[in-house]
Amino acid sequence: MKKEQVVNCQFSVWYPIFKKHTIKSLILPLPQNVIDYLLDDGTLVVSGGDNNNQQNQTNNSDSEEEDVQAPEFPEFNSKVLEAINTLGGCVFPKLNWSAPRDANWIALNSSLQCQSLSDIFLLFKSSDFITHDLTQPFLHSSDEDSPNPAINYELVLRKWSELLPGGEFRCFIKENKLIGISQRDYTQYYHHISKQEAQICHSIQEFFSQHVQYQFLDEDCEWDSGKVWLIDLNPFGEVTDSLLFTWEELTSGNSLSANQEQGDTAQQEGPVFRYTTSDVTVQPSPCLSYRIPRDFVDLSTGEDAYKLIDFLKLVRMTKKRQQEDSEEEVEEEVRQ
Ligand SMILES: Nc1ncnc2c1ncn2[C@@H]1O[C@H](COP(=O)(O)OP(=O)(O)OP(=O)(O)O)[C@@H](O)[C@H]1O
Ligand SMILES: [Mg+2]
Repeated sequence: MKKEQVVNCQFSVWYPIFKKHTIKSLILPLPQNVIDYLLDDGTLVVSGGDNNNQQNQTNNSDSEEEDVQAPEFPEFNSKVLEAINTLGGCVFPKLNWSAPRDANWIALNSSLQCQSLSDIFLLFKSSDFITHDLTQPFLHSSDEDSPNPAINYELVLRKWSELLPGGEFRCFIKENKLIGISQRDYTQYYHHISKQEAQICHSIQEFFSQHVQYQFLDEDCEWDSGKVWLIDLNPFGEVTDSLLFTWEELTSGNSLSANQEQGDTAQQEGPVFRYTTSDVTVQPSPCLSYRIPRDFVDLSTGEDAYKLIDFLKLVRMTKKRQQEDSEEEVEEEVRQ
């Protein structure tokens, strides 16, 4: 995977080419001060909200007493709100490449559905995937010694769509050929996939030859498809999760082989189709490791008032105890 391929997989590059076959979206340039705010991890201060709905927190205990002000981006905020309105009021946000899929647990609705800039900021500031886009987009590129191409960062807002996870497949394209198809949500078993395997494979191949093949700037890429919709386009390389394939298999010159355990269909011509079969143990969601204990979430959002009260009592008790200890120490010194 070359840096140029990563550049070509930016949303604003592929969206105009495949606009007719994907979810309606709007792209807004990300101002530098917003990028700086997203990268500043000294504070988790959520900005961009309606003024009476701000959560001001700090993880810097030295400035505990200070009232930390969320930075405001009024001009950007109004552009974002206008775009959200145009897209029907609910959006799925992402940057040039990634969505904050690792942070959905922090949102009040445990979803990536956003209605305001503060919803977006909360997800973005909590996401390692977003930080990856901002700080190391060219990680794993084969031409690492060449200078990094300049990137214009963009906020992508996509109309919120209720997508069925069992209807999404990741397709691997090498030298303009569709070589592999993998169930996207491979941690679950979907009965309909094994039942309709041939039909699904056929629809994807047809969509590929009619709308994707030879259309894109790169001969190699990877895309996610729901029946006839293109959801996303990723670079063909290790930054992308190869799901039920391995990158070694996909990149070696050998043709992909059947693997019964994973529910393969070996075909003479055309792609290898892999999905999770019933006998594979259902695995935990790959994003689970990004979560923190529920108590922290409840405290940070103020969702569970009793937990917050308990926490404040604990802080007060600890402070009181510390004070008593230091008073005792002083008395002790005076006595001596
Ligand atoms: N507009 C949308 N509305 C609701 N859900 C969506 C929308 N777009 C994408 N999703 C869901 O979110 C998932 C992740 O989206 P997307 O592939 O764009 O993120 P990504 O960060 O590029 O992921 P990856 O790194 O795996 O490519 C999709 O598989 C789909 O289930
Ligand atoms: Mg992607």
